[in-house]
Amino acid sequence: MTNGCVEVSDIFHVKLREDRLRAKAAGSLARGLRARGTLAGGVSTGLRRTARPFPLYFQEGHGARLWDVDGNEYVDYMLGWGPLILGHSCPAVSEAVGAQLQLGHTFGAQHDLEYEVAELLTSLIPCAELVAFANSGTEIVQVALRLARAYTGRARHLKFEGHYHGWDDSVLVSYHPSPQELGRYGDAPVPTGEGQRPDASQIVVQWNSREDVERAFRQHGDEISAVLCEPLLCNSGCIPPEPGFLEFLRELTTRYGALLIFDEVITGFRLALGGAQQHYGVTPDLATYAKAVGAGLPLSVLAGREQYMDLIASGRVIHAGTLNGNPLVLAGAKAALQVLNAGNGSAYTKMWHLGDRLRDGLVRRLSAAHIPVVAMGGGPVFQLLFGLQNPPRNYRDTLAADKVLYGDFAIAMLDEGVTLLQDGRWYLSTAHDENEIERTLAAVDRVLA
Ligand SMILES: Cc1ncc(COP(=O)(O)O)c(C=O)c1O
Repeated sequence: MTNGCVEVSDIFHVKLREDRLRAKAAGSLARGLRARGTLAGGVSTGLRRTARPFPLYFQEGHGARLWDVDGNEYVDYMLGWGPLILGHSCPAVSEAVGAQLQLGHTFGAQHDLEYEVAELLTSLIPCAELVAFANSGTEIVQVALRLARAYTGRARHLKFEGHYHGWDDSVLVSYHPSPQELGRYGDAPVPTGEGQRPDASQIVVQWNSREDVERAFRQHGDEISAVLCEPLLCNSGCIPPEPGFLEFLRELTTRYGALLIFDEVITGFRLALGGAQQHYGVTPDLATYAKAVGAGLPLSVLAGREQYMDLIASGRVIHAGTLNGNPLVLAGAKAALQVLNAGNGSAYTKMWHLGDRLRDGLVRRLSAAHIPVVAMGGGPVFQLLFGLQNPPRNYRDTLAADKVLYGDFAIAMLDEGVTLLQDGRWYLSTAHDENEIERTLAAVDRVLA
């Protein structure tokens, strides 16, 4: 294809680079074949199945660097899909977890770390008067939705197209529908895979569309228990809320007696210590956390106002889990939160500064090479969309992006020693420094040469 300026069919010499990767990451290739003999798809989560050119096997990560089983070193911007806000193997976290390993892995009963971490969280998260723990983002979103249904006595919830809230049937609709699916389903929720229960509880609307949300509330206001959103749409292009949009959601949900739930699984402890709600200055009723809050360990958190969380406190809403609040993850989380909380926000100042510098350096280089690119988000998490001329407002606008070309770019960067998520998202950690940024931009220069 052409982009109007240059022939881009193999601008990144993908075939050559794939051959090189096959040779230098032969150990990963062999392990992938072996794993597929016993592990479904050879990977532990479906999203990793399609890794191009093939899934890599890693054996070590320190700070902002990763090493694969063949000893290749990479600057890492995948960061485990977001959790590693302090980089790989943060010493404070490793030491805290190591010490707890000697004392007990799980008690299935109470221990000091539970209220210590809860106190830290309630002091940092604007909407958090009380918190509850679980193990994954998927689980904790379900607790939030159940709480909203119980509080309001209503059965449905409103979600936005392109937003991801875990893999439960109740939310895994209209995530990344293809244009054909959009044509087939119209305004109805589009299931993401087979076997999902048809579920009438979801109402799906477009991100940043006040008209859509208002219409949904006009038609179904007495049925909607909650509006659920990623306050910064990280899973589909890092699309921010337009000015006033979160305030609008806040006002409308209050007016209709529905709850506003921010899914801060990505934005929490990433955009700011107080997450998106601090960054944008809008406080939801409930917020869900995973990823950065556990700094790489399986912890998720529901935070919310007492009037809602009391339903959990009283046992009217069931929230359960054998490993909820286990001391290993809470030891790690306590250490991570203390590191992030130290230095008066300096960790965030650094991530925003370096991330913006990196993003701007990437855009400058790509534009100079006549590759149309739009950058969304900034600092600790941003996204590059190839082939777009204007910033997208919602998921549908991202459909015009050239995902194949970006995937080719990611392969070329991998060959140059930089690991990227293939959807265009870049994560930074407190462990990234000027050195990594320089090295990355130099890799881009080689890729574009
Ligand atoms: C915004 C958001 N919510 C929920 C989830 C689900 O979290 P988990 O993968 O821990 O179940 C994710 C995962 O990427 C996410 O990005």
